[in-house]
Amino acid sequence: MTRFYITTAIDYANGPPHLGHAYEKVLTDVVARYRRAMGYEVHFVTGLDEHGQKVQQAVRKEDFDEQEFVDRIAVQFRDLCARLNISNDDFIRTTEERHKGVVQQILQDLYDRGDIYLAEYKGFYSVRQEQFVFEREKVDGAWPEIYGEVTELSESNYFFRLAKYQDWLVEYLQTHDFVFPRFRQKQILEFLKEPLNDLCISRPRERLNWGISLPFDPDYVCYVWFDALINYISAVGYGTESFDSYWPVDYHVIGKDILVPSHSVYWPIMLKAIGLEPPQSLLVHGWWHISGQKLSKSTGITIDPLELADRFGADAFRYFVTREMSVGQDSDFSPELFLSRYNSDLANDLGNLVSRLLNLTSRHCPDGFPPAGALEQPERDLREHWDRTCEEALRLYEGFQFHTALEKTFAFITGINRYAEIRAPWKLAKSQDPADAERMRTVYAMMGEGLRLATALLVPVMPETASRIYGLLGLGEPGLWKDELAWSTRLDGRRPGEKAILFPKPQP
Ligand code: MSP
Repeated sequence: MTRFYITTAIDYANGPPHLGHAYEKVLTDVVARYRRAMGYEVHFVTGLDEHGQKVQQAVRKEDFDEQEFVDRIAVQFRDLCARLNISNDDFIRTTEERHKGVVQQILQDLYDRGDIYLAEYKGFYSVRQEQFVFEREKVDGAWPEIYGEVTELSESNYFFRLAKYQDWLVEYLQTHDFVFPRFRQKQILEFLKEPLNDLCISRPRERLNWGISLPFDPDYVCYVWFDALINYISAVGYGTESFDSYWPVDYHVIGKDILVPSHSVYWPIMLKAIGLEPPQSLLVHGWWHISGQKLSKSTGITIDPLELADRFGADAFRYFVTREMSVGQDSDFSPELFLSRYNSDLANDLGNLVSRLLNLTSRHCPDGFPPAGALEQPERDLREHWDRTCEEALRLYEGFQFHTALEKTFAFITGINRYAEIRAPWKLAKSQDPADAERMRTVYAMMGEGLRLATALLVPVMPETASRIYGLLGLGEPGLWKDELAWSTRLDGRRPGEKAILFPKPQP
C-alpha cells in the first residue's frame, strides 16, 4: 500500500480551540479519509505547540505552572478531535521527550556544522510575533499592526544561516509545484526577492523561560517556530529506521497566515540544512470570519465549534465548514447560514430521502430491497446522473474542491428525490397492474442504490452519517471507493432498518 503522510499545523496551547482550529482539523481529516477510501495507508498527525512566549503569557494570567497549564489545554484539544471525529493517528505535543530530543539533536548538529552561530544583535523585536523585525518592514513609517508593540533591544543570540540557502530555495520553488492553491507560490517568491536575514533561533532565559534549552548553551531556549516546525519529523521518528517511509510528507495543511516565512522559507531551509527533502506540498486554507468580522478572543467574536457539534452533531458541523469554504479562499460563518444549510441540505434533502425510503420499503417490500427490473427512461436518467456525479466528485476530491464535490453529491440526492416524485411508488403500490408492481420494486431498488452511492461519496466528510445510513440499508461499513462507487445489486434482499430521523429539526 502507498503511504500518505499528512499533518495539520500544531495549535498554540494558549487557550481553548476555536473555529479556525476545528476547521483545519476537519479539512485535513477529509483529505485523510478520502485517501484511505482510495486505498492509501494514511498517517495523519496533529498536535499542540506548547512552548514560547504566547503560552508563557497565558500561563501568567492563571494560577498554574506551565506544564500543568498546557496539560489542561491538551485535554481540550484532544477532546475536540474526538468530538469532531477526527481520524488522526497521532497527537504530538512539543513538551514530549520524543520531540524535545529531536529538536536538541538538530540544534547540536547544525551548530557542529557551523550553520548556527553566535552573534550580537541590535535591533527591533515584536513581542506579539516573538520575532525580530526590520526597518524595511515599516509601512508609512509605522510597524504593521500584526507586530503589536515593537521594542528596541541589543543582545547576544544564536543565528541559523538562512541566507546561505536562499538561492537554492528560489531555484527549488521555480522548478517545483510546492503550494496549493498555486497563486500562493508567487507570494513566496515575492518575499524571496529581498535578501534573507539569518534567523535568530535563541531567546535568552531571562526573557523567556519556557522552551527547549539549546544543548550547547543552556542560558538560552530555542525560538518557538524552530522548535514547533520540527514536530513534523519528530512525530514520525526522525533518526529511526522507519522515518524514511514517511518523509517527505505529502501535505502540511496550514492557514494562509503561517505560509510565509515559517512554512515556506524557514522549514524547507531547515530540512535542506539537515539533509532532508522539502515537504512535497503545502495545502493552504483561508480564514474564517464570523458574520463578516475577524475571529478574536479579545473582542469576543468567536464560535465554539463544540457547542455546534453537540447541538447538531459532528457531521453537521463538518458538512457545513466543508460545504461553505472553498479551500484557499476566506469564508464567512454565520449562525443563520449554518441553520439554513442544516435545514435544507441535511434535514430536508438527505434526511427526508432516508426516512421516506425506509418508511416506504418497510411497507411495500416485506422481503427486503427488491432487485431492479427493466430500466425505463427515468431509471436510465438517474443512472446517468450518478455516472456524471461520480466522475466529477472524484476529480473534485482529488483537486481539493470539496465544496463543489458536496454540491454535486447533494444535487444527485435531490435527483433521487425528484425521481421518486416522478415515479410515485406509493401510487404504483395501489395499482392492480403487475407491470406497475414490477415498476415499484425497480423504483425502490434504484432509490436504495442511489442513496447508498451518494452516501459512499459522503464518507470523508460525514463518516458517522455514512456508516449509519449503510447500517439502515442493511449493510456493513463502507469500504474502499473502488468497490463502493460502482452501481451494484448489493442491496438485493437486504432488510432496511427502522425509520430513523438523521437530522432532527432544531427546536427554536
Ligand atoms: N503554533 C502555530 C503553528 C505552528 S505549526 C508548526 C500557530 N498556531 S495557531 O493556533 O495560531 O494556529 C493554528 C492553525 O489554525 C493555523 O494554521 C492557522 O492558520 C489556523 N487558524 C487560526 N485562526 C483561523 C481562522 N480564523 N480561520 C481558519 N484558520 C485559522 O500558528
